[in-house]
Amino acid sequence: MNSIHKISLFQFRNYASASFDFPEPVTCIAGLNGSGKTNLLDAVYYLCYTKSCFTSYQQNCVQTGMDGFRVTGEFTREGRKEVISAKWKGGKKELTANDAEYEKITDHIGLYSAVMIAPDDTELINGGGELRRKWMDGILSQADKIYLEKLIHYQRLLLQRNAWLKAQAFRPTDNTELDFYNAQMAADGTYIYEQRSAFLQVFLPLLNDFYHRLSGGREPIEVVYTSDLSVKPLKDWLTQNLEHDLRYQRTLRGIHKDDWDFSVNGLQLRQFGSQGQKKSFLFALKLAQYAYLTKVQGHLPILLLDDIFEKLDQNRMEALLRIIRSPDFGQVILTDTHAGRIRDAFGAGANVGYINL
Ligand SMILES: Nc1ncnc2c1ncn2[C@@H]1O[C@H](COP(=O)(O)OP(=O)(O)O)[C@@H](O)[C@H]1O
Ligand SMILES: [Mg+2]
Repeated sequence: MNSIHKISLFQFRNYASASFDFPEPVTCIAGLNGSGKTNLLDAVYYLCYTKSCFTSYQQNCVQTGMDGFRVTGEFTREGRKEVISAKWKGGKKELTANDAEYEKITDHIGLYSAVMIAPDDTELINGGGELRRKWMDGILSQADKIYLEKLIHYQRLLLQRNAWLKAQAFRPTDNTELDFYNAQMAADGTYIYEQRSAFLQVFLPLLNDFYHRLSGGREPIEVVYTSDLSVKPLKDWLTQNLEHDLRYQRTLRGIHKDDWDFSVNGLQLRQFGSQGQKKSFLFALKLAQYAYLTKVQGHLPILLLDDIFEKLDQNRMEALLRIIRSPDFGQVILTDTHAGRIRDAFGAGANVGYINL
């Protein structure tokens, strides 16, 4: 189990300078709206992944009017204490473990992990495919460095291939360059497709289990992975679809179009699901992510729950509490506007620490 005991923030979001202790195993951050609860959770997330869960612009994490921030956390990893410190200033990131600077920041990825469940996550069900791809890619990249490398490579090739397609409209060339892109993309894309397919085999039973524990029902759920590559190999798409690609000046087929279709009781969740079904499904997705990461990384991630009690009815809340208090779960940090609600939910005498903002 990995856990965080203390965090210090400097010029991070609304925090000029502050430190907080996290008494294990459950810490509740209580405070009014706008008091910085989500920001504090995000700072923990940042130390695990060296990025915010909510923004890809690092500058947004800097307290307004300042030119950089620092976040430092005291962790326990595999039984040993470790201080992780991340500094961002003027577009440059610096990351240290026990004061030693990482040569490559990516070496940090996979050592610590956190799963965040936040109110806006319903987009994972209601939003477009790009969000789901990003989410799946995030999980797969943590489990497999090669996946991440190939994904980045594929995305770069895709941009280059699209630029080539555009250029043909006014400056046609022979296909030497294209053949190169096609071959490389086919190799990377096939690997990614295979990993995404294999992932689902492991992920689906976990998802199924959590969904039924949360909803208390037996309704069948399904996740269908849709990919052009299940029709024919990417190499064939890229060569046979060239005419279309040239007309639209972009690559129309490939793993960058993959998506996942969620359904409950044989009906598509996005269109036909009830609010309750969507909630159970969303929480099940995140809990399955947690269980999957535990499996592949061999340690329990930190679970970050942002304002979730606001959204859950009594039954789901009780089911969620039973799940996260089982031995399959580690440290939990959660936020709520009412400390009293958490106290009631966990029961008197439960080992819950409080941070009052
Ligand atoms: N970069 C920033 N600099 C200063 N304040 C910020 C920054 N980003 C967000 N905030 C402030 O942080 C507060 C929101 O914090 P948040 O963690 O979302 O609160 P809560 O989750 O408790 O409702 C807002 O008042 C917002 O203006
Ligand atoms: Mg919040």
